[in-house]
Parts: sequence; structure tokens; C-alpha cells
Amino acid sequence: MKTIVILTGAGISAESGIKTFRDSDGLWEQYRIENVATYEAWQRNQALVMDFYNQRRKQLMDVKPNAAHFALARLEEKYNVQIITQNVDDLHERAGSKNILHLHGELKKVRSSIDSSLIYELKGWELKKGDLCEKGSQLRPHIVWFGEEVPQIVPAAELSAKADIFIVIGTSLNVYPAAGLLNYVSAQHPKYIIDPNALNNYYISNLTIIKEKAGIAVSELVEELLKD
Ligand code: APR
Repeated sequence: MKTIVILTGAGISAESGIKTFRDSDGLWEQYRIENVATYEAWQRNQALVMDFYNQRRKQLMDVKPNAAHFALARLEEKYNVQIITQNVDDLHERAGSKNILHLHGELKKVRSSIDSSLIYELKGWELKKGDLCEKGSQLRPHIVWFGEEVPQIVPAAELSAKADIFIVIGTSLNVYPAAGLLNYVSAQHPKYIIDPNALNNYYISNLTIIKEKAGIAVSELVEELLKD
């Protein structure tokens, strides 16, 4: 069985109704990264940071996976499929994909602020001041903030190096180290980028760029791959 590795970003969840970060109406137009998505922001104003992620978590309860998430789950009929997602939503899980590595954390989880190995599923959408881990520290969102280490990047790079086919969907490839994963894929293997605003300046061999929305393009590509 061939191995397909898929790197997803906010664009795959856009058609489910979740805003991306860097499109013209994106989240980073509304909020400043340094106020809500850094450890310094958390130290300065926990209430603001908690509220930002509480709103994202609340919204997640009202949205559903779209055609692109479901199409990727169907690939498992014929391939070993590994999803590496930058997204903190759980739409790949809800669509039925099995192997999902979350590079930037998960909205539905929270963790201890003194021991990063203490991770909990949050019941409901609201994390509150005074919600403590078993060691007595305030729980924080289980999110990799700007400037923090990306603990899953080594396994993600190893998986990318094993890909027979590599597909990138809905990411501006602005944020490293995630954006560098394409470089781990071996030169002779096919690679695809699906993004309506994909750039043209990639110097990567065997790369096909599909400038379309994920809902249509992922479904079409999956149909093709299932025929092979
Ligand atoms: N289908 C496919 N792609 C889409 C769609 C769609 N329907 N709508 C928008 N896009 C594309 C945009 O063209 C853009 O290139 O999705 C991409 C979204 O890019 P970003 O907003 O930068 O999101 P992402 O690349 O996932 O961001 C990476 O940055 O802020 C951090 O931690 C956050 O994980 C996030 C990381």
C-alpha cells in the first residue's frame, strides 16, 4: 500500500465556516497575534487569551466537516494515509480520518501551565480562570503559540520523508517549521498544492499546483487517486 501524507491548514476548514488567519477577512485582521497567540500575551492578560480561544471553541461546536475532510477520509480505502494538520479544530477526526497529527495543538484540549505532559479534554467550550491541573496550576489552551516549540515537528518530518504522495491543502505556508515539511518529501514523488491563492514560486520537483477551493479540488483529486 502506498503512503499519502497530507499537510492541511486553515483553508481546508474555510468552507465549514471557520475563518482562516491571513485571508483578507482572516482572524489576524481582527486580532493582533502578540495579544492573543504568544506566551507573553498569556502572562500579560490571561482573560483575553482565554476568551479568544473560548470563542474559537464555541464556534467549533456549530460547524461540521466539509466535502474536503470527508474525501480525505475516503482515501484510507486504498492508501496508508497520514494527516499532518496545522489546524486546531477536530474536523478531520469528525470526518473519520484515523491518523492525524496536530502540529499546533487542539482547541478541545487544555493543559497544565507548569507541566506540559498534563493534557485534558475540556468539557464544553469554556476554559475559566481557576480551572486547575492536578498539580494546582491554571490550565491553559493546548495550543502551540508563536515563539513556542513545535513538539510534533520531528515526527511530522519523518512522516513526510516516507510519503509516496504528498498533498498540501489550504495553507499559506507562511509559518515555519510546518511550511518546510514539503522539503522532506523525496524529489521523485508527486506533490500537490491545493489552494485558490497558491503562489507560483516553488522550486520543487514533481509539484502540481491546483488553484481551486478545497471542497471541489480535494474531492476530484481523491477520486483520481482512488482510480489508480
Ligand atoms: N480551500 C482551500 N484553500 C483555501 C480556501 C478554500 N476554500 N479558502 C482559503 N484558502 C487558503 C488561502 O488562500 C490561504 O493560502 O487557505 C490559506 C490559509 O492560510 P492562513 O490563513 O495563513 O492559514 P494557515 O496557513 O493554516 O496558518 C498557519 O498560522 O496563525 C497560525 O497557528 C496558526 O496554524 C496556523 C498557522
